[in-house]
Amino acid sequence: MTRPDKPDQDVLHKKRIAVLGAGKMGTILLQALLNQGLLLPEHARASVQHGERAQKLRKQLHIAVGTDNVEAVRGADIVLVCVKPQTVRPVLEEIAPVLTTKQLLISIAASVPTAYMEKSLPPGMPIIRAMPNTPCTVRTGMTAVCKGSHSDSHHLATACLLFDAVGRTVVLDEKHMDAATALSASGPAYIYIILESLAEAGVKVGLPRDTATLMAAQTTLGAAKVVLDTGDHPALLKDAVTTPAGCTIDGILELEEGKLRVTLIKAVVKAASRAKELLFTE
Ligand SMILES: NC(=O)c1ccc[n+]([C@@H]2O[C@H](COP(=O)([O-])OP(=O)(O)OC[C@H]3O[C@@H](n4cnc5c(N)ncnc54)[C@H](OP(=O)(O)O)[C@@H]3O)[C@@H](O)[C@H]2O)c1
Repeated sequence: MTRPDKPDQDVLHKKRIAVLGAGKMGTILLQALLNQGLLLPEHARASVQHGERAQKLRKQLHIAVGTDNVEAVRGADIVLVCVKPQTVRPVLEEIAPVLTTKQLLISIAASVPTAYMEKSLPPGMPIIRAMPNTPCTVRTGMTAVCKGSHSDSHHLATACLLFDAVGRTVVLDEKHMDAATALSASGPAYIYIILESLAEAGVKVGLPRDTATLMAAQTTLGAAKVVLDTGDHPALLKDAVTTPAGCTIDGILELEEGKLRVTLIKAVVKAASRAKELLFTE
């Protein structure tokens, strides 16, 4: 699917945003928008389950944070639902009586289809389903978004603007959202394991641990940036590093013998199939 035209960032600046479930991901998004001045503190509200957590967040973010979802969504232009998948329905049923179709609801919950959410919402309520990832915290996130049945390109553009502020955004058909969950939302965990292993390898061949970690992380960042900046196929880029009869090909042989490719593919396939079930498990 193609991305809608980008509206002016000022559009976002004027919006009032309520984050329901300011846990790990909700706080990352809130903090990033506030830090960039795209969301004014007086336009931001958040809710959590526990009072002590609300108090801690109020001090940390300098915005209104409480435990009342209904209070949080009143007057908001965008309602960002960041609770766990199983908590989405009760939260939507709670706020439905005060929601209006002038508001936009964006859910980042894995596994929760727009049609499922629409059943608990006022008729005609525009929804966007989004799947961000934790690197949004350093504005290098990857978010996939799709439309609900009552949202238009305008709503999609607003959601893209919000997630573009913390990284890159792609628009997908909803049937691909579980794949996005498995690839880009779970993906940082896979990369951290690869990074940790490369750093460990550096230690094995004699490098100090902190230097090895820096070298592994910067190499991962650099390789990813080349793919993004050039658009070249990763296989071509790999070939450019692999001198005939050099040392890289020996390393690649070990990776092939250890089935790195198959293992990564299987990890994403397994996570995608699990993503379909999350909503229905405790
Ligand atoms: N973590 C990721 O990498 C990631 C990436 C993409 C999408 N997501 C999605 O983001 C959602 C949240 O994940 P998370 O990792 O951020 O989980 P989390 O840290 O456990 O955050 C969940 C938050 O929801 C709050 N909460 C629970 N019940 C509530 C209620 N009835 N009303 C309002 N708030 C309530 C909790 O409050 P307390 O703090 O008071 O307990 C907590 O702050 C999930 O649906 C997940 O699929 C996560």
